Amino acid sequence: MCGIVGYIGHRDAFPIVIKGLQRLEYRGYDSAGIALFDGNNINLSKTKGKVEDLKDKSKEISLAGTLGIGHTRWATHGVPNDVNSHPHYSNSGDLVIIHNGIIENYESIKKALQNRDYTFKSDTDTEVLVNLIEEVQKTEGVKLGKAVQIALNQVVGAYAIAVFDKKKPDEIVVAKLGSPLAIGVGEDEFFIASDASPFIEFTNNAIYLEDEEMAIVRLGKEIKLRKIKNDAVAYPNILELQMNLEEIEKGGYDHFMLKEIYEQPRAIMDTYRGRLLADQGIIRMAGIDQNIEKFVNANRIIIVACGTSWHAGLVAEYIFEDLARIPVEVEYASEFRYRNPVITDKDVLIAISQSGETADTLAAIKLAKEKGAFVFGVCNVVGSSIARESDAGAYTHAGPEIGVASTKAFTTQITVLTLIALKLAKEKGEFSGSKFHEYLTELETIPAKVEKALKSNDLVETVAEVYKDSTNCLYLGRGYNFPVALEGALKLKEISYIHAEGYPAAEMKHGPIALIDEQMPVFVIATKKGHYEKVVSNIQEIKSRKGKIIAIVTEGDVQVKELADHVIEIPETLESLTPLLTTIPLQLLSYHIAVMRNCNVDQPRNLAKSVTVE
Ligand code: F6R
Repeated sequence: MCGIVGYIGHRDAFPIVIKGLQRLEYRGYDSAGIALFDGNNINLSKTKGKVEDLKDKSKEISLAGTLGIGHTRWATHGVPNDVNSHPHYSNSGDLVIIHNGIIENYESIKKALQNRDYTFKSDTDTEVLVNLIEEVQKTEGVKLGKAVQIALNQVVGAYAIAVFDKKKPDEIVVAKLGSPLAIGVGEDEFFIASDASPFIEFTNNAIYLEDEEMAIVRLGKEIKLRKIKNDAVAYPNILELQMNLEEIEKGGYDHFMLKEIYEQPRAIMDTYRGRLLADQGIIRMAGIDQNIEKFVNANRIIIVACGTSWHAGLVAEYIFEDLARIPVEVEYASEFRYRNPVITDKDVLIAISQSGETADTLAAIKLAKEKGAFVFGVCNVVGSSIARESDAGAYTHAGPEIGVASTKAFTTQITVLTLIALKLAKEKGEFSGSKFHEYLTELETIPAKVEKALKSNDLVETVAEVYKDSTNCLYLGRGYNFPVALEGALKLKEISYIHAEGYPAAEMKHGPIALIDEQMPVFVIATKKGHYEKVVSNIQEIKSRKGKIIAIVTEGDVQVKELADHVIEIPETLESLTPLLTTIPLQLLSYHIAVMRNCNVDQPRNLAKSVTVE
């Protein structure tokens, strides 16, 4: 949460920082700010609202300067307003800071500083940190880098910071613990950002700071990293980035979410490319191959994740148990980390995360590792904290997901987890050769089938028109499609602000059926191979109470068509692969309803893409 950008070099910093903030706006967008240094003066502009508002407001300041830092905020301490927006000055006005994270002990530090006559304009923890750095500079008589290090050893919390000192015009000091920070290394110029997207058109070379590392980014000097705790020198690993500019732009779509929905055939194919060799009857995944004994001999697999990734974990529970016959528990990372779970060295923990930065998931991994479990990460963002913290892992290769509502991350996570389950099923002898082959060849047809499912877009739009003003919706599914019902409801509520709930279809009669009347749209996943007859009975129960039924059915369905108010068809596939298809019309539906309600599809209120606070 919160995006940070910095630049120091020979170009004008303003356009680089502003564009970078726009690319990072998915991380938080309740306020934004920028500070530019022209060699003599710091010019600072900040405002509640979006980066576009900041661009307008910045017309009031001089935009000169080849050093700049900027911030887009998701508020933690202090309401979103101009004053609480970053950057923050120190009391002398010499230091300026941007910060992504939380300083937990800021109140006690603030009191101590107030006792030494420091004053504060904002309610933020960040303003406390910059003044603590200034106080260290004064009392210890040290330069900025050292002062940052000493100050950070006094704080408890998480941070990715960039800070500069008017008296040191050729450097920016950066540090990281818990929140991501990348340094783009160009020719005589450096870029600082929460991820590489702000600098991808300038350089492919990036250094990702590890936790508890800091760096002085100084013009004309090579970057040296230091450990914040003990000042040990760390040697930077300069990575060559694979990302390209097209991937992070809208490419003619009105919204990133729609682009990402339509990218799914390609994304799923990229996920299994080089791994799924159907003609040879092989699944090749280095992270599994090298640790196959751990998986096969595991007492159980524990899956931890949050939000949409947790839903992918629930789908995986069905697949792993059904195909590989390994017991699976799926946990919200936030609950798991605090409930003193029983974990042993015979457990395998799979952490699923698109961003690879979700604080609760990261903490769950650390806990499991401490207790001896083997940790396997399923992440989309290469080099992310969860990817690095895991013992082994598999990337989803979905490409950057920028829309805050997760779409292609979900289907590619399911794809990776299906590959793992199939591989383990084969290894354990749960599958005959022909059954295994059937799965592999069917999985290869999924991108084309997703393409076909996307053709329902116009029909889905007409359904969206009918239900766009609903105040409540129910989503029902059974078996493999129960998690899809949960995911469908989450998608609708997060981007259109309509209250929606997902349920296992059979649970209706244990309570929720009381909600059914002629005002209640019920989205039912009723595909042929998923407990079809039972779901048909559930549909009948809704119909007899006058609920409106919108059913996702298999191509050629007759029975449900007669009962439902609307049906949306998806191609036929194996039962365990249906979530990859049934989720498509539900994503499109949420998208269209949100657009029709004039909601900000890519940046829904109160949310952020990367939840780096607990
Ligand atoms: C929903 C959504 C969130 C995320 C959740 C976990 O559309 O995007 O629920 O799925 O915050 O994020 P990751 O997968 O990055 O750990």
